[in-house]
Amino acid sequence: MTSKGTFIDFIKSRYSCRAYINKPIRDNTIKELTSIISNPPVGPFGNIVRFELFNELGSEFCRVEKLGTYGFIKGARSFVAGAIKKSPHAMEDFGYIFEWFILKATELGLGTCWLGATFQRTILTKAMQLADQEIMPAAASIGYSGVKLHLLDKKIQMYTKPRLRKNRDSLFFDMETKEPMKKGFPDIYATALEMVRIAPSATNRQPWRILYDSKSNTFHFILHRTLVYSQVAKLVATVDLQMIDMGIAMCHFELSARELGASGTWKILKPGPKPRYRNEEYIVSWVGE
Ligand SMILES: Cc1cc2nc3c(=O)[nH]c(=O)nc-3n(C[C@H](O)[C@H](O)[C@H](O)COP(=O)(O)O)c2cc1C
Repeated sequence: MTSKGTFIDFIKSRYSCRAYINKPIRDNTIKELTSIISNPPVGPFGNIVRFELFNELGSEFCRVEKLGTYGFIKGARSFVAGAIKKSPHAMEDFGYIFEWFILKATELGLGTCWLGATFQRTILTKAMQLADQEIMPAAASIGYSGVKLHLLDKKIQMYTKPRLRKNRDSLFFDMETKEPMKKGFPDIYATALEMVRIAPSATNRQPWRILYDSKSNTFHFILHRTLVYSQVAKLVATVDLQMIDMGIAMCHFELSARELGASGTWKILKPGPKPRYRNEEYIVSWVGE
């Protein structure tokens, strides 16, 4: 918690901002952003993210904004991109750490939008000057949120249905009965689950499912893949947007649970719980203390 609020506040107030006021980010805010991206946390699986802030000056991507984002993002002059070394669980760690950054930017009063698809990857990849084995899974536009929504935003929002989320009963299940999860855990975790439910995800697919084992106070995180994304993941072998979504869910869960006083650790259980469907994959468990 800071003077500006809690992670839970920032999770609740964040949304995908696609229309920005066409003015530069103030110098002192740039300083704060620079300090934030210089000190990101390590991901739950031990990977780190290298951030770059492309502020309007000198960035080809920002100058050709329309080209860069295919016109999906209006008025943004600045972008932040992240790079991570290829390694096991790099996508989950990327999602976790980049979402932490998104929440810190929300705290500074900035609007952001995750960009995993509607931007010209080659331009930003070049600007990132990737090291050997590094990949750039996603980026974000960043700036002051515009009040009026552009017509195009409305179209995109119809398609991605912002703020519309699946209900709890379709996301969270009891390990034993396989029925929707009944409350039988501390209130803290009810809030942490709600923070997962309202998390952003690529095209708002919300691919996370959680199974709760009341005997061990353990929350098992399962990836429920959307068919189109499993095909894309195979094509673009290195970037897996739904695994990034999983990292975002882990970030929301852990930050809000810890903020409310819970403690626990991430563990990959062997064997993990058996997935219920063919398109499901067990990822990790939060073992509450
Ligand atoms: C990994 C990831 C990639 C995304 N890529 C894009 C993108 O390329 N273009 C875009 O306009 N929105 C993108 N989004 C934003 C989602 O469409 C948005 O989070 C979702 O529709 C929910 O809306 P909300 O963020 O306003 O709550 C992405 C989100 C995530 C998590």
